[in-house]
Amino acid sequence: MNFLLETLQVLVLSVYFNLEAFLKLFIPSRKKSVVGELVLITGAGSGIGRLVALEFAPLGVSLVLWDISQEGNKETARLAKEKGARKVHTYVCDCSDKADVYRVADQVKREVGDVSILINNAGIVTGKKFMDAPDSLIEKTLEVNTMAHFWTYKAFLPAMMANNHGHLVSIASSAGLIGVSGLADYCASKFGAIGFAESVALEMLTAGKDGIKTTIVCPYFINTGMFDGCQTKWPRLLPILDPAYVAKKIVNAILTDQVYLLLPRAMYVLMAFKNCLQWNQAALLGLYLGVFDKLEECKAHQSPKKLC
Ligand SMILES: NC(=O)c1ccc[n+]([C@@H]2O[C@H](COP(=O)([O-])OP(=O)(O)OC[C@H]3O[C@@H](n4cnc5c(N)ncnc54)[C@H](O)[C@@H]3O)[C@@H](O)[C@H]2O)c1
Repeated sequence: MNFLLETLQVLVLSVYFNLEAFLKLFIPSRKKSVVGELVLITGAGSGIGRLVALEFAPLGVSLVLWDISQEGNKETARLAKEKGARKVHTYVCDCSDKADVYRVADQVKREVGDVSILINNAGIVTGKKFMDAPDSLIEKTLEVNTMAHFWTYKAFLPAMMANNHGHLVSIASSAGLIGVSGLADYCASKFGAIGFAESVALEMLTAGKDGIKTTIVCPYFINTGMFDGCQTKWPRLLPILDPAYVAKKIVNAILTDQVYLLLPRAMYVLMAFKNCLQWNQAALLGLYLGVFDKLEECKAHQSPKKLC
């Protein structure tokens, strides 16, 4: 295509997309139906995974719940049934172990069917300064928070591609967009998860698989216990998020095919700043917002459940 023509096309479409985004601020987006979809959630035994399962429960989906904790998973299943879930299947799976992910994925395909909404949510945090973190915990963090996403995609994406239908959801973190002092391994794992999800989303686009959607979720601290004791310096600007609110926003983002969900809204502004400010200005802003020193007060969860 001619250079001028192609440039003009990009400009016109950019104006159109911006107008569309502006209108969406006032007119709520149409929600898609998920009746009959098979939704798999990793780390469904507590926190955000459980609450997302409960949000999906009344929507006519079948749920496949994975967790390393059988007890937690069973409790989520019980609550989901109470909330009207049609079918709930629980599986113990250690997402840090590639062989276990493939084994349980095969079992799901045999026993339940092809997953059409995949929610990679399981996550752990060591909560140690980089030089204090044992190698084994750093590796585990990367295995659960990033590598597990590779293996679940390998297991479930082929069926989605064959049907040109599906939704890939990455529960990442705002720590995957902005580095945080004291969370080096966690940030690296979340940056990796975001880069991975973005790249495969683009692979789907270039392969013409426009029926496969992606949603990448980047919340600030949530009050689930994962970052126990964490305080926020300016709660109005950067509040510690309520888990039920986050779960509702995640499901709404999936139903409206929203690609990026940053929570709270101030994160969109901070991201724009990060991309245009100088290093020292950005560090100053981080200090002002208290995202470095406040972490010192944070006794990140280190129970065997999360770090085993
Ligand atoms: N809590 C926060 O402040 C916060 C902020 C941003 C992003 N996130 C992300 O949200 C996701 C959910 O976090 P949460 O706050 O609900 O945490 P949570 O600790 O309450 O839940 C995590 C779940 O993952 C499970 N899990 C841990 N290791 C596993 C493994 N190897 N295999 C299978 N399951 C495993 C746990 O048993 C648990 O049920 C995580 O990916 C986390 O990184 C959390």
